[in-house]
Amino acid sequence: MKTLAIHGGSGTIQSEPKDLFLWPIVTEEDERAVLEVLHQRSMSGTEITKKFEAEMAAWLGVDYALGYCNGTAAILGAMYAAGLGAGDEMICPSMTYWASAAPALSLGVAVNFAEIEEGSLCIDPEDIEHRIGPRTKAIMVVHYAAHPCDMDRILPIARRHGLVVIEDASHAQGSKYKGRACGTLGDISVMSLMTAKAFATGEGGMLFTNNRAMFERAISFGFYERTGSASEFFSKDNQLTDPEFMKFAGIPVGGYKHRMHQMSSAMGRVQLKYYDQRIAEIDKAMRYFWDCVADVPSLSPHMCDNTPDSQGLRSSMGGWYYAQGRFDHRRFPAGTLAKVCAALRAEGVSVCATIKNGPLHLHGVFNELDLFRLGKPTTIAFADRDVRQPKGSLPCAESVAEYSFSVPWFKHFDKPAIELYAEAFRKVFSQAGKL
Ligand SMILES: Cc1ncc(COP(=O)(O)O)c(C=O)c1O
Repeated sequence: MKTLAIHGGSGTIQSEPKDLFLWPIVTEEDERAVLEVLHQRSMSGTEITKKFEAEMAAWLGVDYALGYCNGTAAILGAMYAAGLGAGDEMICPSMTYWASAAPALSLGVAVNFAEIEEGSLCIDPEDIEHRIGPRTKAIMVVHYAAHPCDMDRILPIARRHGLVVIEDASHAQGSKYKGRACGTLGDISVMSLMTAKAFATGEGGMLFTNNRAMFERAISFGFYERTGSASEFFSKDNQLTDPEFMKFAGIPVGGYKHRMHQMSSAMGRVQLKYYDQRIAEIDKAMRYFWDCVADVPSLSPHMCDNTPDSQGLRSSMGGWYYAQGRFDHRRFPAGTLAKVCAALRAEGVSVCATIKNGPLHLHGVFNELDLFRLGKPTTIAFADRDVRQPKGSLPCAESVAEYSFSVPWFKHFDKPAIELYAEAFRKVFSQAGKL
């Protein structure tokens, strides 16, 4: 058995092939598109963004898309569009990036955090219904690390209780749930398009919906330039029509300015042209990696079942954003995964680290923060009950760093390189007990 690099042996990967991980792919076409915006001095315009929105809506298969300055802003807009307001509650998985939940507080909305499933890292459908109270208005689902949520179990609960389903598809651009695109499964959805994402345009976000009223609420909240009546500057598309909001035309009711920078939308238009083709290669590379390590002990992929259902429809991992591996932690003392990751890094696999996000239900922002200076935490300031939860209440979310960790996110199907990474994993996992 080879000595682990962390114990003084030689590392498996001497130098990481940068091209294998470089993302997003930027070509002269992206450069030209961005420079054109610069030369036209149209960074703050909307005409390119509106084209990008129309193309994104067609790609996803929805009626409306709205471009945002970032994903966090789009989430806030979606919450307002969904009708959430002071005193309402929203159910959200505890283990996610903070932006899935934190904007709720600025609307005076309490977040009732739910458990995640160890298998999918997504909200546990079993932990939703008992949380629903008279003021619960929405469920935020997060297709975490590209894995689609179990929508067949979540949607009936939402429908039974008249709740809006907001999808945070920031990790799941291109992921499918039983043949249907993530971002089209609930009532309204959001994608972050920031630089690290699978679909990356720099800072940017996009909101999607088929619901005209929600779309208009989102416009009224953060897009003053689309709230006036149609004119030679403001075309009729993507323009407010609802008289309830028209009376506030000219000033966004949220007081926010949410529009996308046109360098981002110009780049997004180019990225979209190649996105499906590029993520198909990522999918091939990631599946090959997981095939190579299929027999490695205590290791399994974070990957949805992609066998076709009775109608031949498949689920998929889209762009495999924030690719994760699963460690069979119950066979080892607590803290072993962190040591495994350190050993993998010593072998030359620089990306390996335990998961960064959550558990949000234990964070001070959702427990103590008094945003409105009302003398009590915002999460209970407007509510008719206290939905805060102590340590130990959501064990799967709280222990995620024991079993989930980032693995190389291959962008190209480079067989020899992927095999070398697989060898590093085999070496470390076969000696996990010695770490
Ligand atoms: C799940 C999730 N939601 C929302 C966001 C926020 O998006 P942005 O960074 O574009 O504001 C991110 C990450 O950046 C995210 O990972």
